[in-house]
Amino acid sequence: MSGRPRPPKLRSLFIASAQIVLSLFLIAPLNPALGQAEDVALYAAGEKIFKGNCGACHKPDKDLTGPALKGSRERWEGQGDIYAWIKNSQDYLKTGNAYAKGLFEQWNKSVMTPNALTNEEIDAVLYYVDNYAPPVPPPGTVAEGPAPGAPQEIDIWPWMLVLGLLFLVVTLSLSGVKRSLTDAVRESEGKAPKEHPGLVGSIREWAWNNKVFASIIGLLVTVWVVVALWDQAWVIGVYGGDEVANYRPEQPILFNHTLHAGKADKGNLAIDCQYCHSSAEKSKHAGIPSTNVCMNCHKAVAEGRSPEGTAEIQKIYAAAGWDPATLQFTGEEDPVEWVKVHNLPDHAFFSHAQHVAVGKLDCRECHGPIDEEMTVAEQWAPLTMGWCIQCHNEKEVNMAGNGYYDETMARLEASDLGHRELKEYLEDEKITVKELGGWECAKCHY
Ligand code: HEC
Ligand code: HEC
Ligand code: HEC
Ligand code: HEC
Ligand code: HEC
Ligand code: HEC
Repeated sequence: MSGRPRPPKLRSLFIASAQIVLSLFLIAPLNPALGQAEDVALYAAGEKIFKGNCGACHKPDKDLTGPALKGSRERWEGQGDIYAWIKNSQDYLKTGNAYAKGLFEQWNKSVMTPNALTNEEIDAVLYYVDNYAPPVPPPGTVAEGPAPGAPQEIDIWPWMLVLGLLFLVVTLSLSGVKRSLTDAVRESEGKAPKEHPGLVGSIREWAWNNKVFASIIGLLVTVWVVVALWDQAWVIGVYGGDEVANYRPEQPILFNHTLHAGKADKGNLAIDCQYCHSSAEKSKHAGIPSTNVCMNCHKAVAEGRSPEGTAEIQKIYAAAGWDPATLQFTGEEDPVEWVKVHNLPDHAFFSHAQHVAVGKLDCRECHGPIDEEMTVAEQWAPLTMGWCIQCHNEKEVNMAGNGYYDETMARLEASDLGHRELKEYLEDEKITVKELGGWECAKCHY
């Protein structure tokens, strides 16, 4: 006889509970799919109205001129009439509604323009902002995400976990039942109860008796851990909420990159990036310029392109301790505290010099069109590990004529010991950063 006979009742009990668990697992995730087509249409309609009427002042998930709109219907619940507010906020303020008044004060009495919309159209906009999915990042930066409005992908991993836990509970309680049964049988036969192996012991015993099943579970758990870790590498460490990039904090002075660094033929000043970020070529950090750098020009340039711009330039004077009336420094400096836009976690190492001086990359490959369309500097790339290694996988390194590799090349040239082939390879083939070690953990992690 092979294996230990199992009481048939327990076996059918086991099969029944496995069936229940399995059906939970199979049926439950399908429910969210019901009614999807309708939701997609509503989302699209809301998006269109939002972009046409609201997008100039609002973002769904971030404050702009007005507050982030996600969840605003909930905030108004029992506090006032959100429809009337959206149709004409200035009229609505006349009702004296406390929430609306508070909001208006909080946003420095910025006026929200009236909107000729029906309640249904407002419903669509509010549906859109509540279910807003961030746009897919520019191609070549990260893996594709779900398109906005696309049916949500069903995430099966939490269900796998639930299944696993339920399975464990069922197994443990079954073994408890089995144990009491054995004890009862032994007692009726007049024998002493058997020694029990304890929790770990009984799991081990179970695994031993169910080798195939145990290895399948082990395999599943391993796959799950690996996939989860890999997934994390693409998203962990992203700042600015659930968005992939585009983190754009408010700065103490409205410094405009497009105006200063943008192309001259578009009426901009075309100042070289490294005029201000001068350490990018030689050190780890690109650096933020001190007000002295601004004052090189702004001693003479006191007026901006608008009254607001001129007011912003006054802030440079206050920071540098410059009196524009007497054209003298007063000595009372008050350094500008720029808010850091990019933040890599401490365990990751990144060097500008390696990429700018050695890799000869253009700033825009990683910082986007900061000189064309960013009046406020923002985090354009996701800064995830996936982003770094994706470029390292594709980017070609040109070793010939690159001073950094002269020594390596010279050493190869000097040696005849079978390196000739390697050298030819280096000259003829496309060599990616990855092949030079750009995927080694220690290159990027302390
Ligand atoms: C010209 C800028 C502007 C436009 C356009 C605009 N809003 Fe606003 N909105 C604001 C401001 C500013 C506030 C904050 C209150 C205030 O100062 O009036 C606000 C507040 C709100 C609130 C209240 C949010 C909360 O936290 O309770 C909602 C809801 C809202 N807007 C919806 C919309 C919708 C929907 C549209 C488009 C149909 C729209 N707004 C268009 C500027 C704007
Ligand atoms: C006239 C000076 C000046 C020039 C020219 C300039 N910058 Fe800046 N840059 C600044 C200042 C000041 C800040 C800090 C304020 C801010 O974030 O807007 C900054 C911030 C940045 C940031 C965000 C830094 C952070 O906190 O993470 C990036 C990225 C950046 N600049 C890239 C560039 C690139 C690329 C160019 C060329 C296309 C450029 N800059 C040209 C002055 C300049
Ligand atoms: C290969 C991608 C890449 C290139 C090319 C690149 N940067 Fe960066 N930059 C980054 C990353 C990543 C950070 C965040 C670094 C951190 O937090 O330590 C950053 C941060 C910055 C900052 C914030 C301050 C600092 O030094 O950390 C400035 C300013 C900046 N970059 C300007 C530039 C300029 C100007 C150039 C071109 C001369 C440039 N960058 C080229 C990836 C790049
Ligand atoms: C190479 C010269 C130069 C440097 C360096 C420079 N600026 Fe300017 N900046 C200008 C000029 C010129 C204008 C006015 C543009 C115009 O009126 O067409 C200007 C305009 C401005 C404005 C007004 C913008 C507007 O919308 O009207 C601000 C604010 C400003 N600069 C901030 C700064 C800060 C902060 C720094 C230092 C980080 C800086 N600038 C460095 C030349 C410079
Ligand atoms: C746009 C492409 C690009 C992106 C994005 C990028 N890199 Fe690189 N990286 C390069 C290139 C090209 C080189 C090769 C420079 C050279 O010749 O050594 C390089 C080299 C390196 C090296 C030196 C590797 C070696 O073998 O010595 C390190 C470390 C590194 N990158 C870290 C990072 C980190 C960390 C990030 C993400 C925060 C990142 N890189 C993002 C293009 C990129
Ligand atoms: C080209 C640079 C680069 C290489 C090579 C690299 N990493 Fe990373 N890694 C990063 C950056 C940048 C981050 C931080 C961004 C993030 O958390 O998404 C990161 C984050 C991580 C994290 C997440 C830590 C956290 O924040 O929770 C882990 C784990 C990790 N790396 C492990 C590895 C291992 C293991 C390897 C080697 C197989 C490796 N990395 C190779 C750049 C790199």
